[in-house]
Amino acid sequence: MTRAGAEGATHPATAVPPAQSGGPAAGPAAASAGSAPLLRFEGVAVALGGRPVLRGVDLEVAAGEVVGLLGPNGAGKTTLLRVATRVAHADAGRVLVGGRDVASISRAALAREVAVVPQDTQLPFPFRAAEVVLMGRAPHLGLLGFESEDDVERARAALARVGIAHLADRSLLALSGGERQLVTVARALAQDPRVLLLDEPTAFLDLRHRVEVLELLRALAAEGRGVLVVSHDLGLAARFCDRIALLAEGRIARVGPPSAVIDPAALRQVFGIDAQVVAGPDGTPIVLPRSASGC
Ligand SMILES: Nc1ncnc2c1ncn2[C@@H]1O[C@H](COP(=O)(O)OP(=O)(O)O)[C@@H](O)[C@H]1O
Ligand SMILES: [Mg+2]
Repeated sequence: MTRAGAEGATHPATAVPPAQSGGPAAGPAAASAGSAPLLRFEGVAVALGGRPVLRGVDLEVAAGEVVGLLGPNGAGKTTLLRVATRVAHADAGRVLVGGRDVASISRAALAREVAVVPQDTQLPFPFRAAEVVLMGRAPHLGLLGFESEDDVERARAALARVGIAHLADRSLLALSGGERQLVTVARALAQDPRVLLLDEPTAFLDLRHRVEVLELLRALAAEGRGVLVVSHDLGLAARFCDRIALLAEGRIARVGPPSAVIDPAALRQVFGIDAQVVAGPDGTPIVLPRSASGC
């Protein structure tokens, strides 16, 4: 229901069949495709330190969809993700996951539905990468909290799917920022959520790994999950996202398919830059910034 066929040509990555569905995250999602949006922000307003940060945000992510959340530093992107996992409190509005208000779901149940790849992937202790990924299974463990063979296997498969099986025994403290980011993506996969929230997951990655992560997000969406990804990379977001939401000063300024949203007027309004936008060979908008002051 989410990806109009006509859009397919603009996003070739989506043509990849969900071939990896035997992976650790093969589970829950497909059944929900076609129903209510997996994730829905309704009029979410948040003030932090007495200052309004979000001023009434409405946004939906459907099953099968990758939505990019873009906007300048301080726009409120991280805060919006935090509201979805109840790390930040909404002063007004609400967030629904699978049609249920997150305020009414236990934290463990919410963690079975929603996984987060946070902006800051540091952990203060020298956990091994495999242990960190296994932590993604925590919301699924029984009363005693012991991991089963299945949990260990899912963690191993998540590492493999992200392409970092070779990092399994390395201490997180001894990894590069990009390698740590990939470990955190694998942890989110091991969690087997219906909704993935990723906060600048490609910020420290080289180009190949950026593309790999975005292709992985497309594959996860093709399994029927919903993905909301914060990024500063307009080009990659335009290429891999079904829709883009531009957040500015706590409000969604524009939302829609990349080619409808990314234009000079929006870039001026949201980022305060003067830029040219040209269509790539497949219609994907390409941003050519000209000046930060010419508007
Ligand atoms: N705990 C906090 N107390 C006060 N202000 C905060 C807090 N956390 C974030 N902010 C402010 O809220 C605004 C939005 O922050 P954030 O959501 O992190 O923006 P983004 O992720 O879009 O860069 C920023 O101006 C930031 O300084
Ligand atoms: Mg942020």
